[in-house]
Amino acid sequence: MRTPFLACAALLLASCGGAASPTAADKASEKRTGIRFSERIELVKPDTTAGLSINRALQNRRSWREYSPEQLSLEELSGVLWAAAGINRPADDHLTAPSALALYPLRVYAFFAEGIYRYDARSQALERVAGGDHRAVAGAQPFVATAPLNLVYVADLEVYERRSMPAEQARYLAGQDAAGYAENVNLYTAGHGLRSITRGSASPELLGTLGLDPERYFFALAQSVGK
Ligand SMILES: Cc1cc2nc3c(=O)[nH]c(=O)nc-3n(C[C@H](O)[C@H](O)[C@H](O)COP(=O)(O)O)c2cc1C
Repeated sequence: MRTPFLACAALLLASCGGAASPTAADKASEKRTGIRFSERIELVKPDTTAGLSINRALQNRRSWREYSPEQLSLEELSGVLWAAAGINRPADDHLTAPSALALYPLRVYAFFAEGIYRYDARSQALERVAGGDHRAVAGAQPFVATAPLNLVYVADLEVYERRSMPAEQARYLAGQDAAGYAENVNLYTAGHGLRSITRGSASPELLGTLGLDPERYFFALAQSVGK
């Protein structure tokens, strides 16, 4: 067992060392459960005490285009989705990311080798939309097809209709919302020893694969996430 002095010294080293990655102690305390790809994936509550400080995550943040095929743990996946669009104020269902006019037009889809799922923030769960490996549809670059997770942000433009907003402005605002979701994920991954990238491209087949009407839905942004 550590003496109080040694524990303090270890803490000091961890905070002053300059290597901005999770320490062995951080990792050891993190639970790692495998994801079971059924019709519905119950995610876990995010551990809001884990991960690096926001300043160290900012120092680590960068775009990654190389991913190992290793899948995220259920805890990592849960944290990533919560960072993107999780509810952090249950009293009014507001999210970790802001939304212009608080309209929340974005749907979050998760593409895995095992299928496509839609994130349900209220129940902190993923609902299967389609089986099979459709990851290549989530982007235009080769690494997208093999990254263990791709997130796709799709806007439902109908939410802007009651605001009588020109379509161009609605698309612009949806894109701005998506950038907030994506950057939350980039900071989360940078703070948890994971990798990610924000991407602006997807296959023209994307909306068709998701069964969405292109008159109503708009591809806003995508991300690859992994290790
Ligand atoms: C809105 C947006 C869209 C992007 N789209 C792509 C993309 O489609 N493919 C890609 O490889 N990188 C994409 N990037 C990542 C940028 O290329 C990257 O942020 C830039 O090169 C700076 O590198 P850094 O993020 O490592 O600092 C995108 C970034 C943003 C903010």
